[in-house]
Amino acid sequence: MKLGFIGTGKIASSVITGVCGSSIKYSKIFISFRNNKIAKGLKKKFKKISIEKDNQKIVDNSNWIFLAVTPTVGEKIIKKLKFKSNQTVVSFISTITIPELKKMIKTKVDIVRAIPLPPISLKKGPVPICPPNKKVKNFFDKIGSTVQIKNEKLSINFWSTSGMMASYYELLKVMSGWLVKRGIKRSDAQKYITTLFLALSEDAVVNSKKDLKYLVKESQTPKGLNEQGLKEMNKKGVYKSLIKTLNSIHKRLNK
Ligand SMILES: NC(=O)c1ccc[n+]([C@@H]2O[C@H](COP(=O)([O-])OP(=O)(O)OC[C@H]3O[C@@H](n4cnc5c(N)ncnc54)[C@H](OP(=O)(O)O)[C@@H]3O)[C@@H](O)[C@H]2O)c1
Repeated sequence: MKLGFIGTGKIASSVITGVCGSSIKYSKIFISFRNNKIAKGLKKKFKKISIEKDNQKIVDNSNWIFLAVTPTVGEKIIKKLKFKSNQTVVSFISTITIPELKKMIKTKVDIVRAIPLPPISLKKGPVPICPPNKKVKNFFDKIGSTVQIKNEKLSINFWSTSGMMASYYELLKVMSGWLVKRGIKRSDAQKYITTLFLALSEDAVVNSKKDLKYLVKESQTPKGLNEQGLKEMNKKGVYKSLIKTLNSIHKRLNK
C-alpha cells in the first residue's frame, strides 16, 4: 500500500512517525515538501519516504491520501486535485465536513474523517473516525485506539474535546511553574507533574468502565486536601467554564 500526505505539519508528522514504528505494511509514503524542514527531517529518519513538490503527484502515486492541511489551505487546494475512484481519502481537517469534502473531491472515493492527536507518534491515544470504515479502523488500531462514529454530527463532539489538548498542557505548565517558583528545580517539578498526571490518567483508563464520578469520590479524604481543592475549583466555576468552552468550540464546528 502506498500512503500520501497532503501537508507535512504537526499532525502528519505525528501520524507518519507512528506508522513508521508500527506493523502497518506500506511500500512508500509520499509527503509534501511543505513544511520543508519537517519533510526533510522525516525523510532522514525513516526509509521509504519520498518528498514531492506537487500535491497532484502525491495523489496520483498513492492508494490512501491523508489530508493534513489547515481548513483555509484545504478550501483552496482540494478542489484542484484529481482523485481516482479506488482511492481512500482520510481527512484530518477540523472544520471541513464530509458533504463539503465530497463536493470538493467530486470523484466517488471512500472519504473518512479522522481525529488523530500528536501522541499517535508514540502509538497512543484515541482516533475517532467517521463514518465507520473497516480498513481505516484496522489501520489506526495499529497506532492507536480507533473509535468508530456513525454520524458526523456525533463526531463533531469529539472534535470539540480534542480542542482541549493545549489547555491540558497549560495546566501541567502552570502547576510545574508554581513548584519552580517555590524553589523546586524545573526538571524535578516537570518530572513530578508529568508522571503524576500520567499515573492518574492510567488509573482513569483502568477504571474507565465505571462512572468517573467514583474516581472523583475515591480521591478525596473527608476534610482532606483534595476535597478542599475540588470545592474551591467548583466554587470558582472552573468546571462550568470548561463546559462553556467546549460549547463554544462545538458551535464553531457545527456549521
Ligand atoms: N495538530 C493536531 O493536534 C491536530 C489533530 C487533529 C487534526 N488536526 C488538523 O489537521 C490539520 C493540520 O493541522 P496541523 O496541526 O498539522 O497544522 P500545521 O502544523 O500548520 O500543518 C499544516 C501543513 O500544511 C502545509 N501546507 C500549507 N500550504 C500547503 C499546500 N498548498 N500544499 C501542501 N501543504 C501545505 C504547511 O506548510 P508550511 O509550514 O510550509 O506552510 C504545514 O506543514 C488541521 O486541519 C487541523 O485541524 C490537527
